[in-house]
Amino acid sequence: MVLVANDLAKHYPVSQGFLKPKALARALDGVSFEVHAGRTLAVVGESGCGKSTLARQITMIETPTSGHLVLAGVDVANADAATRKRLRREVQMVFQNPFASLNPRKRIGHALEEPLVINTTLSAAERTEKARAMMARVGLRPEFHQRYPHMFSGGQRQRVAIARALMLQPRIVVADEPVSALDVSIQAQVLNLLMDLQEETQVAYVFISHNLAVVELIADEVLVMYLGKVVEKAPKRQLFAAPRHPYTRALLASTPRIDAASRAQKAVLAGELPSPLNPPSGCAFHKRCPHAIERCRAEVPVLAEVAPMQWAACHRSAELA
Ligand SMILES: Nc1ncnc2c1ncn2[C@@H]1O[C@H](COP(=O)(O)OP(=O)(O)O)[C@@H](O)[C@H]1O
Ligand SMILES: [Mg+2]
Repeated sequence: MVLVANDLAKHYPVSQGFLKPKALARALDGVSFEVHAGRTLAVVGESGCGKSTLARQITMIETPTSGHLVLAGVDVANADAATRKRLRREVQMVFQNPFASLNPRKRIGHALEEPLVINTTLSAAERTEKARAMMARVGLRPEFHQRYPHMFSGGQRQRVAIARALMLQPRIVVADEPVSALDVSIQAQVLNLLMDLQEETQVAYVFISHNLAVVELIADEVLVMYLGKVVEKAPKRQLFAAPRHPYTRALLASTPRIDAASRAQKAVLAGELPSPLNPPSGCAFHKRCPHAIERCRAEVPVLAEVAPMQWAACHRSAELA
């Protein structure tokens, strides 16, 4: 196991106006999972359900409010500064718009070599050599080393971002909506690249997406989030073939599928995601759920094993099997 998240939570204090007490946005509210080397955990859910907040905790950009993060066997909360620095190298991130954080006046080679400058004692020539080798591995011509960010297409930019993330040979890459801004044809190329690189390096991915069609291609296991909590978790095939949470079903029904004709498009996700400042009582999904009963309003469902390897947090998951 390269990554274990145990009951991770992140609550943000939010100002409600002058002299009013601060409210807490429970952006992430007790999420647990494990990721193995060479495997991909996909995290799905609507915009606002807490996916990026989760990403910021597991990449150590933020410190969780509670819970534990274990990276490569080390509990981050108990690690000293030197250990944390080492662990940071092990978890790299790929963003949806990677070039927002890149200096437009610096050549791409510079962006790729930057992690090596900070974390290694390699010479300039060695760094350049490594950058060019990595560019070749992600399908970019090594001559592009001298180019500036604006000279790259969207797909090429994401290849640069992936190359940069892999420069320090991390054990984990967290990719937050990495193909969401790309044309569909380009999406498939970038996803295939990610899968090839995983086979070569055994890197583990936490792949964040709101798009289940993309997840179906790349995931080994899928974690479905709703309002900061896990509502369903299962191996990919099982989740797509026999989803047990009504939210997962609604997401699946509202995702255009490659074989859409073969699937009845029944439930559609109605209404909006509630605010994490003021979540509904009981099951947070009950107001939008076609199967909600009185108990769902009153009692928070716990995540329970509903089939081998498959977990769901729904009072009615047995009836929905
Ligand atoms: N720094 C912050 N302060 C207050 N609320 C935040 C902060 N970051 C995220 N949130 C809230 O947490 C919720 C989850 O956000 P986010 O993790 O970005 O969701 P997603 O990536 O799934 O769209 C949203 O309601 C968002 O407004
Ligand atoms: Mg996000």
